Amino acid sequence: MSGSDEIHRLLGRPPAAVAFAPGRVNLIGEHVDYHEGVVLPVPLEQGTWVGIAPRADGSIDCVSSRFGRVGPHRGSPFVRADDFAIYPLALVAALRERGLDVPGFTLAVHGDLPIGGGVSSSASLLVACARAIDAWMGLGLDAATHAALAYRAEREYVGVACGTMDQTVAALGRVGCALRLDCRTGATTSIPLPRDRVAVVVVDSGTRRSLQDGRFNARVAESGAASRFFAASRPGITALRDVTASDLAAAVGRLDAIALRRARHVVEEIARVDAFVDALHAGDDVRCGSLLDASHASLRDIYEVSTPQLDALVEECRAIEGVFGARLTGAGFGGAIVALCRREAVERIEREALPRARQRNGIAPTVLAVV
Ligand code: GLA
Repeated sequence: MSGSDEIHRLLGRPPAAVAFAPGRVNLIGEHVDYHEGVVLPVPLEQGTWVGIAPRADGSIDCVSSRFGRVGPHRGSPFVRADDFAIYPLALVAALRERGLDVPGFTLAVHGDLPIGGGVSSSASLLVACARAIDAWMGLGLDAATHAALAYRAEREYVGVACGTMDQTVAALGRVGCALRLDCRTGATTSIPLPRDRVAVVVVDSGTRRSLQDGRFNARVAESGAASRFFAASRPGITALRDVTASDLAAAVGRLDAIALRRARHVVEEIARVDAFVDALHAGDDVRCGSLLDASHASLRDIYEVSTPQLDALVEECRAIEGVFGARLTGAGFGGAIVALCRREAVERIEREALPRARQRNGIAPTVLAVV
């Protein structure tokens, strides 16, 4: 059944509007978007469909093919729901901040992204909601506004201190292209992937985390402390984006060791992104791979967001001939990894690396996407 047929079935009547938004895999530039860094996500084919049908009483209820029925909740003022309706409620609250009042509705949700899998199921749901409400109400908003609304909803109302990467690629990403996003200026460039030569493989480790469980926000807070320290240390620094290697060296012994480690990851990871873009343009896949490997090592040892299961999966994928590099992708603490390889290596990853990782981790990984 297609996504929109499933939406129709869930609603039990024809939707007034249906929309889709994709999940994403981030190639490189992890935990830097909330420090005004540069990131390189790629949209996936998988994502979230939503459909809307009006409700007369002003409230909002939701039905999902995974989680069943929730609500009705009052649409206004915003009250935290402890179910997945928090996402449409948050989006409605973000629209209200712009003076746009949304009437009551039933929302049907159908998606094929793992939840807590590091591939942005929440941004995909929020951007799909923004698109569907826009189409239903005839608001005429553009894609950048959909991204901004979804970002505002997630940060302010869902309460995750995320950056702008996930919502932006869900709203603006193009199939088969990486989106270079400068999170300081908002500038985006689509970079076609050389798919005749290499594949981007996304493997779900089968382990899960929730961004709402506090560990993500804890990293944001630790690196935020470093950011404030550096901003006070010399003019010209307003974010970790502005910090240099010599700033880091000068801070040794003056800044708390954990905060300094978090800052080091951010500064070095930002530099890796454009190095990766340059290597991609130059056709230097080996260099791309070693940048992915360096990113993983930094996330594991310096930013400390990896897990033994993600490390094992990354190691097993790298051991396959034709794999240039691999790293965890997304927030970490579980979820997915991304590998860059020759196209003919994809099958060997599935046949050899995944069973070995399964043996080591006691949980079966699955290939989620090959871009
Ligand atoms: C989550 C957040 C993003 C980004 C990544 C880590 O996906 O939503 O904004 O911070 O983690 O790179």
